[in-house]
Amino acid sequence: AAITPLKQDLKGRRAIVTSGPTHEPIDPVRYIANRSSGKQGHAIAAALAARGAEVTLVTGPVTLPDPPGVRTVHVEAARDMFSACFLDLPVDIFVAAAAVADWRVAVEAPQKLKKSGDLPPVLKLAENPDILRAISTTDAKRRPALVVGFAAETENVVAHAQKKLSSKGCDWILANDVSEGTQTFGGDSNAVHLVTANAVEDWPRMSKTEVAARLAERIAAAFNEDTT
Ligand code: CTP
Ligand code: CA
Repeated sequence: AAITPLKQDLKGRRAIVTSGPTHEPIDPVRYIANRSSGKQGHAIAAALAARGAEVTLVTGPVTLPDPPGVRTVHVEAARDMFSACFLDLPVDIFVAAAAVADWRVAVEAPQKLKKSGDLPPVLKLAENPDILRAISTTDAKRRPALVVGFAAETENVVAHAQKKLSSKGCDWILANDVSEGTQTFGGDSNAVHLVTANAVEDWPRMSKTEVAARLAERIAAAFNEDTT
């Protein structure tokens, strides 16, 4: 297929994209994780880079190769993802596509838990930092001009996404329906709604690569509106 070169309309812009799951250690051999292949986040990093942005991809453990032309930082747990993102500020664009584990085990066992006790162990959980909210609400000097989050919902998809938009303080949310049968996780396509403060766009089901290209195009348009 012929490749149409993309306009370098994000040249000079810096972006951070989070992707993949996080792994929260229970002990040296076990962890808690979310389902996420990283396909959507990696595709977004590549799509922004294809338009000339300087991209840092902060990814949890995935089996995907590092996208070419993107600086990739590999992390395991949510707290490592949080620090890696803040270390890379300031940027113009932040896209949170990672499926961050909401909880970690409060105290990681230093040695492998053994079955020797009478009862199975009880795990005490602690809440992980909310990376998207922290970036959205950081001081104006460091806050990216455009902060985009994802919302994985199983019901009332748009209403929940609108609530998340305001509670997290981000600018846009890409909401996707992950209810049973939608085959979003690990699949190659995604049906999303782009939710902004004053509009909702329903995008048709398309490949994750196409979702990424369309998002990158919208991001470039937002910057080019602002600067003309
Ligand atoms: N997110 C994040 N850090 C967290 C949790 C979520 O950065 N600790 C980001 C995700 O990358 C995503 C967005 O927040 O862009 C929404 O994630 P989601 O799991 O849908 O929302 P939560 O706020 O965690 O709410 P809940 O899981 O209870 O629906
Ligand atoms: Ca969550």
